[in-house]
Amino acid sequence: MSRVTEQFEVARQYLAGGVSASTRVNRAVGHPMYFDRANGCRVWDLDGREYFDLCCSHGATLLGHGDERVRAAIDRTLDRGAACSYENEQHAEFAKLLCETIPCCERVRFTGSGTEATMHCLRLARAYTGKSLLLKIEGHFHGYHDQVMYSIGTPADRLGEPADPTHFPGSAGIAPGLDQQLVLVPFNRLDLLEQAFAKHSRELAAVILEPVYYNAGCILPDPEFLTALRDMTRQHGVLLIFDEVLSAFRMTAGGAQEYLGVTPDLCTLGKAVGGGVPLSVFGGRQDIMKRLMPEGDCQHSGTYNGHPVAVAAGLAAVTAYRQPGFYDHINAVGARLFAGLNEIFRRHDVFARVQGLGARFGVYFGVPAELRGYRDAVQHSRPAMLKFIAKAIEHGVYFHDYGGAACHHGFCAATTLDDVQTILQRLDIAVAELAAGERPA
Ligand SMILES: Cc1ncc(COP(=O)(O)O)c(C=O)c1O
Repeated sequence: MSRVTEQFEVARQYLAGGVSASTRVNRAVGHPMYFDRANGCRVWDLDGREYFDLCCSHGATLLGHGDERVRAAIDRTLDRGAACSYENEQHAEFAKLLCETIPCCERVRFTGSGTEATMHCLRLARAYTGKSLLLKIEGHFHGYHDQVMYSIGTPADRLGEPADPTHFPGSAGIAPGLDQQLVLVPFNRLDLLEQAFAKHSRELAAVILEPVYYNAGCILPDPEFLTALRDMTRQHGVLLIFDEVLSAFRMTAGGAQEYLGVTPDLCTLGKAVGGGVPLSVFGGRQDIMKRLMPEGDCQHSGTYNGHPVAVAAGLAAVTAYRQPGFYDHINAVGARLFAGLNEIFRRHDVFARVQGLGARFGVYFGVPAELRGYRDAVQHSRPAMLKFIAKAIEHGVYFHDYGGAACHHGFCAATTLDDVQTILQRLDIAVAELAAGERPA
């Protein structure tokens, strides 16, 4: 038995399910990964095996593991005593940097996780508009709180009609009735968005969506869909919220809103914003953010909000994302990796495609054309994906399976073009073995 599988047995005796987060079990291998150390784009497991990390902490470590700039900022904060639950001068310094970087942000608040950020953002939207209905895009993921735990992993045979998607719950234990607060519309279906607005616009507080649907790998919005959504929300006094927990900093420092040229009223930032340390942000128009206590009447607080270690780490990380050439490098690595992997699939006759933007991507098996929404993602072959992930891990490239219909993968800025070459060499062998296994003997 390896030390990795041994460790899972130990953990299961004390941790529920053997893990601290349910999606940490990688179904492709049947256990969580136990990494002993990490450096840049590489991780080493408890048995000393090296992997290139194409999960990158679910998207949190965009600079790579153990980045020196983040580490130095953390060390300086610890040296000052890291007094938490108080403000220091870095909170405003980082807030200013974020307001200068993210188009919609005139004011921001720090909070702990992506889940908290969307939860507070939605409460604020309801407080500001005095309305309670929310429009959510089918399949889009906004964290683990009850308001948005619907239609995130609906099985293919339970989707319902596109005009009336099933409010399939993402968990047991959700209070009955919350589904009544959500209107669901499939991504990129402008006709159905218009229908939903015609029916519900007067009761809608907000529309929340992933501007780039990275939780299903990488699915881009149609420009017409997004522009119409912006126009309709503005026209009907409905707040537009971009959940950029995963998309922020991925393809440009200003996030998907800068890349797509559409500015929402509010947005959430998570994962990469903390440079690998727990931090999330929500922010947006000043007149809306003014509704937060103590200026206004909408509550947002928390003992660990804006922990000084996280703020220092985030400040160092976002400063690094803004350095000239940062995204030229990301795009060069992405272009080489995505094209190389597509070429490997073609050469070995494996029916798979890569869709990527910036530092994150999806790998889809058995779908004939570009994916446009959850209904396409759920058609891709999850068993084929799990086999691919297991083979890649066997050959030293770590992909994570989150248990959903499709998965998002990604690389970090510490990945060099030479690293990409090695990653592709390893994946070439993995895909060759996969293809040989599929062929009749
Ligand atoms: C778009 C989006 N929103 C919210 C969340 C929840 O973030 P967290 O896991 O930090 O609570 C995630 C996490 O994957 C996400 O991708």
